Amino acid sequence: MRLGPIVAATVLATLAAACNKSSTASAPPPAANEAAAPEVPAPIMTPDDAKKALAGLPAPYNTADLDNGEAKFALCKSCHTLGQGGANMTGPNLYGIVGSKAGEGRNDFKFSDALKAANITWTPDKLDAWITKPAALVPGTKMTFAGLNDPKDRTDVIAYLMVQTGYKPK
Ligand code: HEC
Repeated sequence: MRLGPIVAATVLATLAAACNKSSTASAPPPAANEAAAPEVPAPIMTPDDAKKALAGLPAPYNTADLDNGEAKFALCKSCHTLGQGGANMTGPNLYGIVGSKAGEGRNDFKFSDALKAANITWTPDKLDAWITKPAALVPGTKMTFAGLNDPKDRTDVIAYLMVQTGYKPK
């Protein structure tokens, strides 16, 4: 029995189907602030890239200690991811946080009414007040975090946030 032609025809049909599929799947690219598809890994920031990004930040963040920032971010990590397209957990993904409005559009994260009504733009100063004591800045927030008391730790964490969440100095 000669199966050759049948196998070839099947292969061709499969290829044609695959081609069709890929041409119909070319949807328009997502808007810039939409989460990337989860299977696309966030770009990895090398220590060198991080150092360069740090130098470009506004003072006093440009001289912050990124290693300490990373170490202190361990306190935030159980609730927050940083990379583009990262998951929402107990707290929202924080990609692009600096300069953005509080309580908005983080891939359908359910913010508290208190934070949504707070009308805050996340400047570095506001972030500093936030992580000093979230409930003091926004009474009724559902971020249950006691706060970072040391001002240097806060500066280092905010610099780390800027570097790791795609902040672009103006
Ligand atoms: C126990 C979990 C938890 C920890 C720990 C935590 N957060 Fe949060 N965070 C939240 C939740 C929940 C919200 C949403 C608050 C709301 O809706 O009121 C939030 C909101 C935020 C926001 C505002 C997001 C937006 O889009 O407006 C920022 C910024 C933030 N957290 C930064 C941090 C940083 C930095 C740390 C560590 C110093 C930290 N968080 C620690 C749970 C946490």
